[in-house]
Amino acid sequence: MPPRLDGIRACVFDAYGTLFDVHSAAARCRDDLGEHADRLSALWRQKQLEYSWLRSLMGAHVDFWQITGDALDYAMAAVSLENPALREKLMTLYLGLSAYPEVPGVLATLKSAGLQTAVLSNGSPMMLESAVSSAAINDHLDHILSIEEVGIYKVSPKTYQLAVARLGAAPNEIAFMSSNAWDAAGAAHFGFQVIWVNRFNQPRERLPGVPKAEIASLSPVPEIMGV
Ligand code: LAC
Repeated sequence: MPPRLDGIRACVFDAYGTLFDVHSAAARCRDDLGEHADRLSALWRQKQLEYSWLRSLMGAHVDFWQITGDALDYAMAAVSLENPALREKLMTLYLGLSAYPEVPGVLATLKSAGLQTAVLSNGSPMMLESAVSSAAINDHLDHILSIEEVGIYKVSPKTYQLAVARLGAAPNEIAFMSSNAWDAAGAAHFGFQVIWVNRFNQPRERLPGVPKAEIASLSPVPEIMGV
């Protein structure tokens, strides 16, 4: 049984992998990608994350749309696919990724119980607005926060501080949900009460910052909040 979190005023969600299925873009191009679909999708995601961390270390920020395109170019080259039309198709699909099925109901329950709800993501404002609209979850979210406001990627503490500043809540009054174990670690190290949504049954990260709870989908979140 996951524990109850106490004293929470706001529920903040990571976007990619947590609310939205990042592999749904390649899944919708399975006919075009054939045997490359799974490898391309995994490499695309891995490179997207690596470029976010590396550019943050380099002090060479560009927005997540640019990073997502660069990562796709790498992944397509790695599987020897040269197809500009398919690249455009995949990028367009990334703007309308599928939300995981439990997402709308969980957000609606939390919001109607009087908790603030927000997204805090590496995604650019354009990407996040598009994904949120496409999943029709706008009405369930009080804030859509993009790290573009601080110009550095997770896990910089500046990114988590953005939520503190914009939500008017102390770090330990914020419950943060992420399926990305490294993001869960970063947010817990910052001081949020973190729930790691371990959708893919991965081992825990060997990093500072320990989540308070581990669950397999977002479905138990309202119960953990006591609503
Ligand atoms: C995000 C990345 C971590 O949405 O998936 O911030």
